[in-house]
Amino acid sequence: MVFDTQDLLDHHKLPVIAIDGPSASGKGSVAQLVAKHLGFHYLDSGALYRLVGLASLWQDIDLTDGIRLGAATSRLKIHFDADLIYLDGQEVSAAIRTEEMGKRASAVGAQPLVRQALFALQRSFLQAPGLVADGRDMSTVIFPQAKLKVFLTARVEIRAQRRHKQLISKGISANIDILTKDLVDRDGLDTSRQTAPLIKTADAFLLDTSEMGIEQAVQTILTWYKLA
Ligand code: C5P
Repeated sequence: MVFDTQDLLDHHKLPVIAIDGPSASGKGSVAQLVAKHLGFHYLDSGALYRLVGLASLWQDIDLTDGIRLGAATSRLKIHFDADLIYLDGQEVSAAIRTEEMGKRASAVGAQPLVRQALFALQRSFLQAPGLVADGRDMSTVIFPQAKLKVFLTARVEIRAQRRHKQLISKGISANIDILTKDLVDRDGLDTSRQTAPLIKTADAFLLDTSEMGIEQAVQTILTWYKLA
């Protein structure tokens, strides 16, 4: 494939809103609504790490074996169809949303070769007219040129309550103390890892949604975007 330099420059100029933050902060719901308001594409980068987590389970790969995990990530056959996600032809949209898959995603996400293998795939989501990308390293690694960077968070007890409500509404039983501990553990792993740790960059706007509903968070981001 021959790349035209002008095409690449124009592509680079497409607007990106990068939304990073800890687990269960509500950034997925907020990011999707912001994308809908603006008619932009949406990247749920956490889903990709969850898919690697699922693939590692299917292929029985040790979560510390970075080389095999990296190789498996390069071979992943992922397909998105509206809200449905397929891995190797199997519909896995619900299977990747479990707490177990969140933990596996966090473990595989600490492997540099996995992150490297997902880099180009994540960048390919940037298509006209623009993209809202949510994850942990959208502002720092994948889209450092983002027009707007948001660090979206909420107090851990609020996040645990939200996750609890979400699981119960899906008919999945959950214990709030275990959920809180899991969130604290996952935050610890995501913020302390060597490669692409979760951090708030100096140029990112902080949005604490502890006392805020989804719609207010969405409107705040849309206002910041208009002013960016
Ligand atoms: O956002 P979500 O909870 O689905 O992400 C699951 C896990 O995937 C996170 O805890 C994190 O370890 C990893 N992840 C990551 N980089 C991203 C998105 C998610 O390392 N950009």
